[in-house]
Amino acid sequence: MTREPASLILARQNLLTPLGLLGSGRQRYAAAMTLFEAGQISDEALEIYRVCSPLDHEDPAPLLARAGLPLPAEPAGGDLARGLRLKTLLAECDRYLAGLTGPGIAEVRAGLAPALAAEGAPLPRPVGGANAVVSAHLASALASLEATHPELATAIAASTGDLEWITYGEYPPDEIGADFLKGHAYTEMVGPEAPVFAPDYDLGLFLIAPDVLYRDHHHPAPELYAPLTGPHGWRFGPDDPLKIKPAHDPVWNPPDRPHMTKVGPLPFLCIFGWTKDVRLPASVIPATDWRELERLRIPAA
Ligand SMILES: [Fe+2]
Repeated sequence: MTREPASLILARQNLLTPLGLLGSGRQRYAAAMTLFEAGQISDEALEIYRVCSPLDHEDPAPLLARAGLPLPAEPAGGDLARGLRLKTLLAECDRYLAGLTGPGIAEVRAGLAPALAAEGAPLPRPVGGANAVVSAHLASALASLEATHPELATAIAASTGDLEWITYGEYPPDEIGADFLKGHAYTEMVGPEAPVFAPDYDLGLFLIAPDVLYRDHHHPAPELYAPLTGPHGWRFGPDDPLKIKPAHDPVWNPPDRPHMTKVGPLPFLCIFGWTKDVRLPASVIPATDWRELERLRIPAA
């Protein structure tokens, strides 16, 4: 059986990049170029995408229809297509992590290496329905990321619909706070329950809505956050002052180190990695200033 290159699968997905996203016209044109070079669309269709390329809000579909040309198809379904999209995303995550320096990065990349080295593609299960936090906030996070890391943004966009995004509802609301409870979503790509199995390792994406406070907590798992957006606030002890950090400045939490995240004006999107003890639970640590921090608004960079 011939395996279709992931680049063409991504290009077809990117033809459907939502209108209005920063640079989406350019992204659709780049995708059309890839498909044209592979003989999958005509030069007439390519010209329509070229004309629309500086116009992020311009929908090429009516122009294609008027010219009697086929409209872009929805992304390919099936295990193979989903697997190739996920494998591309894992490779992009690894490429991103390779460009960072700091503690924990080597450990997270070492845990990811078997998934990248495996023959063929993983086989993610089909998932149903969209996650409300993802629908509301992922596009603006990716529009920001796209400006500096377009391939990673594209790979996340391409795989998002294949991944199971979870808004975890089991924290006691009075401990974790109502805003966080309904304002976050995460997806595991590699891990004990993830599309790529690893017995005691987790790698995934984590999204939190703008301005939300993720209250002080700790867990036995050593944890890397590689934030793809920013600015956001951090502290590493209850009632300590907040430190404001930009995007792309990784945070490594050794086992049981307290940590807290205050999201800024952009949604917080990060790659997270837990390198061991991934089944042991996290606990919230009380602090006296959560109400004040929940009201705080971090200015844009
Ligand atoms: Fe954590």
